[in-house]
Amino acid sequence: MLFRQLFEPESSTYTYLVSCPDTGVTALIDPVLATVERDLSQLHQMGLKLDYTIDTHVHADHLTGARRLRELSGSRIVYPAMVEAVCVDIGLREGEAFRIGNLALQPLFTPGHTDHHHAYLIDNGTQKMLFSGDALLIDACGRTDFQSGDARSLYRSIHDKFFTLPDETLVYPCHDYEGRFVSTIAQEKSRNPRLGQNRSLEEFVQIMEEMDLPYPRKIDVAVPGNEACGVNPRSAGEAEYTVLSKHDQG
Ligand SMILES: [Fe+2]
Repeated sequence: MLFRQLFEPESSTYTYLVSCPDTGVTALIDPVLATVERDLSQLHQMGLKLDYTIDTHVHADHLTGARRLRELSGSRIVYPAMVEAVCVDIGLREGEAFRIGNLALQPLFTPGHTDHHHAYLIDNGTQKMLFSGDALLIDACGRTDFQSGDARSLYRSIHDKFFTLPDETLVYPCHDYEGRFVSTIAQEKSRNPRLGQNRSLEEFVQIMEEMDLPYPRKIDVAVPGNEACGVNPRSAGEAEYTVLSKHDQG
């Protein structure tokens, strides 16, 4: 499997390049509009053509590169099916593997950060890689206080869908605000300050309720923009894209 972890610094977003070495079929998970040219350059350097963009959820903190990449490269837009956006080419559902050539990507319905959030698991026999989106972050988790967030749902998603995976599963989040790249299920189960050490549901809900995070600056542009697969509904200038707090958390 060919793999690259790419970073967009303004929203601290990770985009993941996943490619089947047998067939050349290639996908980008959570591409960002601001780094579309960088992503295409990376693909070109590796001799790859983009087949799919796959989003984990409708992001509130940045615009997806899905639509622009489709325009530039002919890739198809893949979202969780329950988003029901007209711009989407392929909808994913838990229990239905999505093929990237000979690689099987397993959607995991993991609501809580949003009510439609899906994480993606690839187990290629030698590696288990969880693309955890904004559900589970390294030593943290996604916000549950906006969009359709719900702390109780997020706790159940992480415990039932992630913490039941093998300990050695690699965890690749959609964001990191502290320069970390990858974690494991074992590490999050033991070290995550919100969810590790068998924290209870009630403890987790209290932690999330007491966070008192700032209103996400891009949410009013990003959510409708991403429901349209990555257009700016206000044609906003750079002024609307001021630097985010590192605590925006997706
Ligand atoms: Fe998010």
